[in-house]
Amino acid sequence: MSNQREQWGSKLGFILAASGSAVGIGNIWKFPHMAGQNGGAAFTLVYLACIFVVGLSLVIAEFVIGRRTQLSPVGAFEKLAPGTNWKWVGFLGVASAFVILSFYGVVGGWIMKYIIISVTGGFKELAGDPAAASSVFNNFINGTWSPIFFQVIFMTVCIWVIVNGVKGGIEKWSKIMMPLIIILLGALAVRGMTLPGGMEGISFLFKPRFEDLTASSVVLALGHSFFTLSLGMGTMITYGSYLGRKQNLLNSALWVIALDTAIAMLAGIAIFTMVFALGANPEAGNGIFVVLPSVFPQLPGGTVWGTLFFVLLFMAALTSAISILEVVTAYFIDQKGWTRKKATIQFGLVITIVGAFCSFSMGGGINITEFLGMSFFDFMDYLSSKYMLPIGGMLTAIFVLKKWGVDHFIEELKIGMDKSIVSKEIIIVLLGIAATVVGFIIINEVLDIAFGIKLIQ
Ligand code: TRP
Repeated sequence: MSNQREQWGSKLGFILAASGSAVGIGNIWKFPHMAGQNGGAAFTLVYLACIFVVGLSLVIAEFVIGRRTQLSPVGAFEKLAPGTNWKWVGFLGVASAFVILSFYGVVGGWIMKYIIISVTGGFKELAGDPAAASSVFNNFINGTWSPIFFQVIFMTVCIWVIVNGVKGGIEKWSKIMMPLIIILLGALAVRGMTLPGGMEGISFLFKPRFEDLTASSVVLALGHSFFTLSLGMGTMITYGSYLGRKQNLLNSALWVIALDTAIAMLAGIAIFTMVFALGANPEAGNGIFVVLPSVFPQLPGGTVWGTLFFVLLFMAALTSAISILEVVTAYFIDQKGWTRKKATIQFGLVITIVGAFCSFSMGGGINITEFLGMSFFDFMDYLSSKYMLPIGGMLTAIFVLKKWGVDHFIEELKIGMDKSIVSKEIIIVLLGIAATVVGFIIINEVLDIAFGIKLIQ
């Protein structure tokens, strides 16, 4: 513990690492998938509102807490509120990391498998036939060992990056991969828009039909805004803790949010323009694994486009997965004095094993949450997106407002800003809205589960 704390090498490196965490499967798979099933543009608008009201204030809050304490979540809450129960918010974050990465790593493995299918021309026989694509996908994920094989490779790469450290691993790879993701996705979006009929996809995504908007899609959008910005489990606290005092945190948070949103929109554009141009169904589930493999081979050079898509998705998944594992690693380094290597390998392995049970539950024969009427995979996703992240986010907002104090918060936020245009009132209002809205959503979910009462339908 006597070693100097690791730090980011540059401002840009920090922004790319933090936005690398934010940009992930959530942007490229979950967002277009949810928009497709919830009326397209109406969902997009609510999502944007959640990102800018709830998301922005919490990204800033996490950065500020991390930089002030120079510690990962458990230590950070303990340092700002010694001897209180607030450190449990930190523990909740570490627990969330186990839950999220277990299923995230499985999807990471699926993506690797799809890169291989695409490169070897495997999409060709699926051209225009989503039913065939669907059975290829289901046969693969229902298998016992093949998905695990790829999950293990994905987790190994993830562990390897983290073992190389904050600057030499996370920052280095984020700096390489983030620009590539933007370029590749941009190229795919342009290709989609220039297809005859592609523009229909744009209007699906951006022209609202409010009759399609239901209260449950609002809830979904809010939950997703946490997931996509990596909020509620201290990822951004951990990344903020590797910062020196020169960074402008407001500015950085705006960059992270802008990049995350831009990439979700680009992914939506790329996917829906192609889907509409080729007459596929925008509402089909598992779109990227089922619809796209049947769409790509219909394009000239489809093997190349398909491969580029899954490669960029792999990079997005990897930069996110490392940020989740880093929360666990940082906890054992900061609080237990372990070495980076020992912490990462040991807990990377534990998460891989839990993840194997997520994969088995898709059809591989073992589902330890059978009694809940849910696969273990879905349960882990549900538990984290519906409860752990929102509760963590809500408590973080309450912590700043009620325990640590907005004045202390602003004092830290102002460091590194040229002009101090931070208004205390705005911060109180934004964090207050965040805590209230999220609290309401959690209560709604609990009442629904426990008593079947729906406050919002
Ligand atoms: N934000 C990532 C995505 O959109 C996933 C992610 C990374 C995440 N770190 C997280 C989600 C921490 C919740 C909490 O795919």
